[in-house]
Amino acid sequence: MILDRLSRSSGVARWCACALLATVTAFAGTAPALAKRAPAPALDSAAVAVADRYSAQAAEQILRAGGNAVDAAVAIAFTLAVTYPEAGNIGGGGFMTLYVDGKPYFLDYRERAPQAATREMYLDNKGKVVPGASLIGGRSAGVPGTVMGMWEAQRRFGKLKWKQVLAPAIAYASDGFEVDEQLQSRRDKAHAEFAGKTNFDAYFSGLNRGATFRQPELAATLTRIADDGATEFYTGQTADLIAEAMRGHGLISKDDLAAYRAVWREPVQADWNGYRVITAPPPSSGGIGLVQMLRMKSDLAPAFEGVPVNSPKYIHLVAEIEKRVFADRAEYLGDPDFYKVPVARLIDPAYLQKRADEISPDHISVTKNIRPGLDVSALGVQSGGNADVAGSMPEKAETTHYSVVDKWGNAVSNTYTINGYFGSGVVVPGAGFLLNDEMDDFAAKPGVANMFGVVGSDANAIAPGKRPLSSMSPTILTRDGKVALVIGTPGGSRIFTSIFQVIENLYGFHMSLDGAVAQMRFHHQLLPENTIFWEPYAPLDGDLAKQVEALGYKLQAQSFNGDIQAIQVEGRTATPMADPRGRGVTLIVK
Ligand code: DON
Repeated sequence: MILDRLSRSSGVARWCACALLATVTAFAGTAPALAKRAPAPALDSAAVAVADRYSAQAAEQILRAGGNAVDAAVAIAFTLAVTYPEAGNIGGGGFMTLYVDGKPYFLDYRERAPQAATREMYLDNKGKVVPGASLIGGRSAGVPGTVMGMWEAQRRFGKLKWKQVLAPAIAYASDGFEVDEQLQSRRDKAHAEFAGKTNFDAYFSGLNRGATFRQPELAATLTRIADDGATEFYTGQTADLIAEAMRGHGLISKDDLAAYRAVWREPVQADWNGYRVITAPPPSSGGIGLVQMLRMKSDLAPAFEGVPVNSPKYIHLVAEIEKRVFADRAEYLGDPDFYKVPVARLIDPAYLQKRADEISPDHISVTKNIRPGLDVSALGVQSGGNADVAGSMPEKAETTHYSVVDKWGNAVSNTYTINGYFGSGVVVPGAGFLLNDEMDDFAAKPGVANMFGVVGSDANAIAPGKRPLSSMSPTILTRDGKVALVIGTPGGSRIFTSIFQVIENLYGFHMSLDGAVAQMRFHHQLLPENTIFWEPYAPLDGDLAKQVEALGYKLQAQSFNGDIQAIQVEGRTATPMADPRGRGVTLIVK
């Protein structure tokens, strides 16, 4: 199968390469949907916003070699799997939103529950959720999708050879990279969590600030994947090593790996404020949540009139919108291959207007009265459990997002994850990479909160082969058919509320991109009741805190509120911005 793919694609590449610059010819290797004739560049430069400097360097190498946004995105994914092991991965999954040659695409490479998974696998014999069971160790891992996702994206749209886009990651794994302070501190926290429970320390005790960290097993794994393609990971030696690691510890089998598929889905699309919003469909809740928020905010324009950003009234109005979004999320959202998600109805302008009309600018609505808003009886959508158990927000949280625009005006917005910091804490022995703990994104029990404090219903119950509900929302905004903004962030259930705030800062309050990203962010999610989460980076404190509390809200600190990586395109200029909250960097390649 691999040989078939490689030879098929190189045929197309030879045809394409002649139209490209001579320097690119040597690298052309996979199916190019981008350029039949080398088009004139639409932009003065390519731009990248990414979570660390090593992946930025990898992207630069690929872009300078003639690669497009997809090649750069795939190189970044594999590099972050080496240099950003707390979230970058080949043992997890994610979503990629693309805009290529003026058309939107969405690739779902989310993890799937193993065939041996059961609806009640995290409950004890009294029906109670066993603490930590879906978060630590092999049983918390879903079947990884990242390698298949990258393979699918690169073979469909990439211009360079598969091997070439993996080369930077392999070099960082074998030669090593210098460990950053933030990485060491995240490692320290993970050590405290995993010590004695997984083999985390055996692999990651060398992650000390300033040290050069080498990963020979991971280098060998990446080299096998570079040589033989995704099939190596899913049916080759790597698959053997994963299955071996699971023996007695977890559920993923060789059959699960061999059956894994990434899925091209229709992105969620909506017109808003002169822009086309292209974002993540189910199994993400994030795209729907984002569009619901943007549209309800527009519906409430009279109430927002003259209300300054992050003023008490602004925080109240946005929290009221969020209440309704999270009520719908808990009830209707899950894997569309298993559950009929009423996507069109959830973002229908008339429905959202009706929801927005319920909001009082002056009073907090009573939490238990905020129910899912659709009448779904006519749709044949089952009603799930109800969402009335208060959630909490443990500290553990990490994922990573990056945005890429190439000089031809193509864009990739990619968010991928192993869920918590360093995923399940389980490293595949002999293969050198971490497995995810994405199973925690299922509703282990209807009404009981997961690590992000969000609850779910039948729509998101565990089933073999099913994908857990996500909040990841890689998003692209276009205007008049051209990319205007590429944006995304980690943050679990904070993802789409963060993206919403940055988009509103940018287009509603006309801030510069750096101002829009650096601005204070807050979060509400229906549960816990009337609680506004704030972040140490830009604290909600002092008089503002008192005024918000006087409205009836409780304030709760959280350690993390996103790490936005965004690119704004105006005319021929692409401006990248990495969130000052993280160790991200930006890059412009002329
Ligand atoms: O898919 C999701 O929504 C989560 N597993 C993402 C986790 C995440 O963003 C953690 N980052 N802070």
